[in-house]
Amino acid sequence: MILAPQRHLFDIPDDVAWFNTAYMSAQLKAATAAGIEGVARKAHPWRIAPGDFFSITEQARAAFAALIGATADDIAIVPSASYGLEVAARSLPLAPGKRILLLEQEFPSNVYPWRRAAAAAGADVEIVPAPADGDWTRAVLERLGPGHAVLAAPNCHWADGGLLDLVALGAACRAVGTALALDLTQSAGALPISVAEVAPDFLVTACYKWLLGPYSLGFLYVAPRWQDCAPIEEGWASREGAEDFAGLTRYRDGYQPGARRFDVGERSNFALIPVALAALAQIAAWRPEAVAETLAVTNARLVAELAPLGLRAAPEHVRSPHLLGLVLPERTLPDLLPRLAAEHVHVSQRGNRLRIAPHLHITEADIDRLAGALRAILG
Ligand SMILES: Cc1ncc(COP(=O)(O)O)c(C=O)c1O
Repeated sequence: MILAPQRHLFDIPDDVAWFNTAYMSAQLKAATAAGIEGVARKAHPWRIAPGDFFSITEQARAAFAALIGATADDIAIVPSASYGLEVAARSLPLAPGKRILLLEQEFPSNVYPWRRAAAAAGADVEIVPAPADGDWTRAVLERLGPGHAVLAAPNCHWADGGLLDLVALGAACRAVGTALALDLTQSAGALPISVAEVAPDFLVTACYKWLLGPYSLGFLYVAPRWQDCAPIEEGWASREGAEDFAGLTRYRDGYQPGARRFDVGERSNFALIPVALAALAQIAAWRPEAVAETLAVTNARLVAELAPLGLRAAPEHVRSPHLLGLVLPERTLPDLLPRLAAEHVHVSQRGNRLRIAPHLHITEADIDRLAGALRAILG
């Protein structure tokens, strides 16, 4: 289903064309209002009851779980993708001679934890080179084998917008006994995902991009088979019986059930969680399938408009519907982004790619402005 432009739900001036959701999304007005109310709540702390520390986090777990087809028990609340990937890297077993498979030019938060874990275990990191035809799924499938302890991958490559077929990769991982750790920061909310179909071991996402949520909040899905692993922190709220504030010094060995033990300390964030909840409610109402289909139409139009300028896109079947990484012409243009920004047109550059990341606030006028500004600079 193609959604109508939703600009009225965002607070974006008419003369700003924000094609930079992959950097940071614009925030929904409803989410901003929820955040203001969340910050104000602490001015009157008597409005925050002990039970709220748990009810607010359970709501957040349930809302994110619904988005990925999991249950609230499988979700931990984390401050960043790095934190969730750290949990995954500490939990998944490695052995000398085993390898961790990563994509070339992967985002650093999904590289460094694996490099350290590999070094500590006498294992190695192996890089899948960027495929010339843009087909990351095939490139990974060609390499994946029983020597790989872990495949750490996204659904969409953060820099080139390449699409990875997670159902196919999940099945291939199961077939050879490789654990699958996903960083969905560049897709959750804009691409549908079902943990029942993909069966990852760990899945993490930051909230501030395609989930339209706040900075410094993320979600971690932990498959039930890893929920007994040691958490990074040993805070009070993750322990069994933490709801009984009067009895907190009756120290307990047990944890809260499921993935809750992996929660970051102070995860009952009364300012940020309401922002995430408002955004998750809107995304659920739109449905990620419809977000993806709608953004695919926007991006297909841009690909057609920009091709004559020498901006090359990967073929449609191997690129993500929501995020475009267009190969820039050979000559370097160090001032390309500032010149676009001067026109209030915002995109990113990652390597030799112009990264275009629209959301549902994009209008026909925005598309014309981006294409017109690029024509004036590159044409
Ligand atoms: C693929 C990917 N993962 C994670 C992040 C953010 O990581 P963190 O939450 O650790 O700051 C980004 C930010 O650009 C990203 O593109």
